[in-house]
Amino acid sequence: MMWISDERIIRLAKEYGTPLYVYDEKTLRRSCRDMHDLLPNKNFRVSYSAKANSNVEIMKIIRDEDIDVDAMSPGEIYLQQLAGFTSEQIFFIPNNVSVDEMRCAIDRDIMVSVDSLSQLGMYGRINPGGSIAVRFNSSNGLGHHDKVVTAGKKTKFGIPITQVGEVKSLLEKYGLKIVGINQHLGSFVLTKEPYLDGAKELLEVSKQFSGLSVIDFGGGFGVPYKENDQRLDLAGLSLGLDEMLTEFLREYDNKSVMFRIEPGRYIPAECGILLGTVHSVKTNHDMEYIGTDIGFNVLMRPVLYDSYHAIHIAQSSNTVGQIKPRTVVGNICESGDIIAKGRELPQVNEGAIVVVQTVGAYGFSMSSNYNCRLRPAEVLISTDGTHRLIRRRETFEDLIGTFL
Ligand code: LLP
Repeated sequence: MMWISDERIIRLAKEYGTPLYVYDEKTLRRSCRDMHDLLPNKNFRVSYSAKANSNVEIMKIIRDEDIDVDAMSPGEIYLQQLAGFTSEQIFFIPNNVSVDEMRCAIDRDIMVSVDSLSQLGMYGRINPGGSIAVRFNSSNGLGHHDKVVTAGKKTKFGIPITQVGEVKSLLEKYGLKIVGINQHLGSFVLTKEPYLDGAKELLEVSKQFSGLSVIDFGGGFGVPYKENDQRLDLAGLSLGLDEMLTEFLREYDNKSVMFRIEPGRYIPAECGILLGTVHSVKTNHDMEYIGTDIGFNVLMRPVLYDSYHAIHIAQSSNTVGQIKPRTVVGNICESGDIIAKGRELPQVNEGAIVVVQTVGAYGFSMSSNYNCRLRPAEVLISTDGTHRLIRRRETFEDLIGTFL
């Protein structure tokens, strides 16, 4: 899984300091192509869900792979336009936005999807006669944790299909044309069946609206985080979806309807690693703690979802001795600030470099300034093998930038 040698990791840590996110362009492009080529026989496009990683340089590469983008906020739209995405390539799928935020997309001719009757009404009042997409909650949700399940009975997202009648009344009331329907079941599947089941249900809903130009099945495609995780069977998913869509098109009135998916994680997850430095090693009662500079302000996933990220120590003279369970922690003032609990690791000394894997998605994008810690720098290794900084490390000036 690793695309970089330990020697280079140690050199990068020296050159840029830690914590440091490092991305590999080749791996990123390969994941883009996996998604881009999923349905070669259909009118099909991929929208990258940029919440996973919104670094402008990363988004430029994704755009260069002929992939579109979805946005959750005006901030994402702003960065996506900086990365060169046109209005036509952006799909705004917000949740609970203000009138001004909704206008931000309308003024730029960006297609909007609403996910409540209330927001549909708001859209109708500010843009009567406009075109709109609607996000339905038609299926069971999925995800690696309750906090990332975005369909089914226990989520704030989407309009239940029982409300199709109310949707139609509001469309009529404001003279709106429904041009798309979409869903997002949740984040992380490694088996194709739940995704295919969800797609089938969305197609059923679609039949209730004639002349749709977009049907968007959402994201959720997982990547292996553990060494022995099976990869998602993309060939099987492709076959299953293709058959289902062929059958749907036999009956549907608009044969040129475009099908979309919205992968976030799948695209950048595996191209990113996070480097940290060991600053202390101690034994508290029975457990040995490896104290690093990777606090949960830098990588939130283990604390928020108990997520597993593979970890290794970049080999150097700092790695010695016995492999046994050790707990890797950060420098934040909370006991929950744990990156990995009881992981089989070699004994390390201060100064060793810790490598956390598969952090290209929802890594930097969920970072914060908690404890007045500075957000880390990001480095990209280009396809020609050279590397460059694509985001500088924050400074104290960044901490005070918003004070009056
Ligand atoms: N589309 C919509 C409307 C979404 O809300 C999301 C993710 C996606 C697409 C992309 O989902 P993906 O392909 O990445 O599973 N922070 C969590 C994941 C939260 C996902 C939120 N929505 C994590 O680190 O696991």
